[in-house]
Amino acid sequence: MLDGKKSLFSGMQATGNITIGNYMGALRNWVSLNEEYECFFCVVDEHSITIRQDPAELRRRARNLLMLYIASGLDPKKNCIYYQSHVSAHAELAWILNCFTYMGELSRMTQFKDKSQKHADNINAGLFDYPVLMAADILLFQSDVVPVGVDQMQHLELTRDVAQRFNGIYGDVFTIPEAYIGKVGAKIMSLQDPSKKMSKSDENPNASIYLMDDPDTVMRKCKRAVTDSEGVILYRDEQPGVKNLIDIYSACTGKKPEEVVKEFDGKGYGDFKVAVGEALVSIMKPIQEEHARLSQDKAYVDGIIKENAEKAAYYANKTLRKVQKKVGFPERIR
Ligand code: TRP
Repeated sequence: MLDGKKSLFSGMQATGNITIGNYMGALRNWVSLNEEYECFFCVVDEHSITIRQDPAELRRRARNLLMLYIASGLDPKKNCIYYQSHVSAHAELAWILNCFTYMGELSRMTQFKDKSQKHADNINAGLFDYPVLMAADILLFQSDVVPVGVDQMQHLELTRDVAQRFNGIYGDVFTIPEAYIGKVGAKIMSLQDPSKKMSKSDENPNASIYLMDDPDTVMRKCKRAVTDSEGVILYRDEQPGVKNLIDIYSACTGKKPEEVVKEFDGKGYGDFKVAVGEALVSIMKPIQEEHARLSQDKAYVDGIIKENAEKAAYYANKTLRKVQKKVGFPERIR
């Protein structure tokens, strides 16, 4: 709770390009949440350096992601959209929470195990500590709810455990966050392997459509999407590729899968794929145009960045000061 309103926090890494799966499954559904919650959408650049990054590239991607949040419809006056690295309370609270988190808990994190396997040459302490920084992100804003994918549920559980442990010692300092279960967005699968979720880090470039792909690329990827030899457009598990295309078309047009099936009754896969491509382009175009406009308006975006970092810091520092006092740090002299 913040100022009597429930609060919500979510973060995204600026590594990899945002896909239509991220957009339809998450981003797009965040747009109206500010009516009910005080919302914080953070570009978690401090998490990104747990894997080696090219500095110029990280900076460029972080700014792009922040602009994409806005271009996707998140109103930066009503949602706090900011960079994690601009609010030092994240790192400071993470340090304190480190002292309330056990090595054993962190060793059990499956993402840590996966990532250390993938980056065996750079298993740094930050990678191990990643979930504690994430806990700090969430707890700083007294978050009631956190929209996260299943892959982040273990980290959210750890956040709750650490918060409860801290509260058990010092009294009610932190709100215990829950996973946000609201209107779930469409789950978009890979175009090349419809048994897998569409991912921003897929090695096959034809598997994912990126929000910034140009119309020709979108069309080409749709035409190459894996289907089957049934030759009928039906919404059923036996035809996962076609089902996924129907889901994408539904998500773009707002039509129900049954209506889509009716609309394309008797049509071939070729025609349908073109229609899916066109539907995608028509929802992506306004986002890309807004992104391009924001890219041109440096002063406006800089203003948003400054204002929102100050707003985030205000709330974050309130929690941080309380925590510092609880653990026994000396009072600040003013
Ligand atoms: N770890 C999350 C991911 O990779 C990103 C993240 C960082 C996050 N801090 C967060 C998500 C706080 C939700 C809340 O997807």
